[in-house]
Amino acid sequence: MTLTQSAIDILSRNDRGGFTIPTKGLYPYQWNWDSAFVALGIATYDMDRAWGEITSLIEGQWPDGMIPSIIFRSDDPDYFPGPSRWGKTKGPIPSTGISQPPVLATIVRKLTEDGSVQDKARLADVFDAIYRWHAWWHDARTVDGIVTTVHPWETGRDNCPEWNLGLDAMTVAPDLAPYTRRDNKHVDASFRPSQEQYDKYLTIVQFGDSVDWDQRRLTDEGPFLMADPNLHFVLLRADKDLRAMAAELGKPQAVRDQIDAWIAKGEAATDTIWNDELGAFTARDMHSGTFCNGFSNCSPLCFYADSGSAEQWGKTIDHMTRIAAQVDYMLPSWDPEAPDFEAQRYWCGPLWPQMNYMTALGLAEQGHSDMAARVQNDLCRVIEKSGFWECFNPLTGEGCVGNNFSWTAAVWLSWQHDKKLEGVA
Ligand code: GLC
Repeated sequence: MTLTQSAIDILSRNDRGGFTIPTKGLYPYQWNWDSAFVALGIATYDMDRAWGEITSLIEGQWPDGMIPSIIFRSDDPDYFPGPSRWGKTKGPIPSTGISQPPVLATIVRKLTEDGSVQDKARLADVFDAIYRWHAWWHDARTVDGIVTTVHPWETGRDNCPEWNLGLDAMTVAPDLAPYTRRDNKHVDASFRPSQEQYDKYLTIVQFGDSVDWDQRRLTDEGPFLMADPNLHFVLLRADKDLRAMAAELGKPQAVRDQIDAWIAKGEAATDTIWNDELGAFTARDMHSGTFCNGFSNCSPLCFYADSGSAEQWGKTIDHMTRIAAQVDYMLPSWDPEAPDFEAQRYWCGPLWPQMNYMTALGLAEQGHSDMAARVQNDLCRVIEKSGFWECFNPLTGEGCVGNNFSWTAAVWLSWQHDKKLEGVA
């Protein structure tokens, strides 16, 4: 069987009737940004089903506009923390009380551009929901002019060492309700976050429930508050794509002006996460103002968002060139020279398919064709070597955590379909 056929099979096996799970066992529900990437992959062979993935995600939208990170359409006893642990959340379908990186607008725009007249009509159906979600980020999660996060899981980069800054500054709730982890049952514990980290993750969840999931209070009063280059750059790019779609749909001037204001706000905030000492975009603790000090796989998303100065971009390429000489497979999630780099522990080192997708796209768009090619080709090579894993050891190319993974299959399909990114060497 060809890899392309295997990728299609993975997506259909992970289909749970209108929505797609990331992988069987470890992740039995619908995840937010996973579904967006899944739609990108399915669109290469079934546009109707791709739009279905998007509308099923939107079905979970809260009245305040948030689209949650996980939608629990059932209660799987094998997953923790499931719906009961999140408490009285506010969506029409049980869900988590936090969101995930808003890549949806960018992917919807691509589907619309590649699609037919009917796809343009479908865009009209989903535009308002996405617009309300972006408004939610700008209203409920913005502090000092920049989008922030209240929980490492909201960034999609669950246990990246960047979060230690915010986690170290908080304490575990003395009344934290007891629990049993399930993630370690499915995969090797060495891949997964530590116990102390887990206690803190659940402390934040307990806090959210204690304020009745009032998202502004969670942002202002919660125990954890950090700015994240992933959320910042993904949202800024998505705002630009939303703006283009608003024009395409002939949306009222007030809507376009609002999106323009979000974009201006985002551009102005880019310097807030520029760590001058390191010469890279990093996460930053918003309580103390302290920067994290490692180059991650979202540092180069400045290209994807088309934001930052020529000097910032030059230094970012310098870091990538240095790292490219140290790993067989770009782009590791954490700097291989950092003391807390671990080649197979989740966001502490492995390369992640969806991050390579966004990074390669941004580099290609901004004319860095050689680096774009390296990032794209390395992901393709590692899939050819090991298969469709959740993430990969950047030194050996071995697969890590979950296998038969939806977004890995989806990125493969998208690149096979487009053959090559425009601008890749
Ligand atoms: C992990 C990843 C997150 C992803 C989820 C489902 O929690 O860190 O980004 O959305 O798995 O694949």
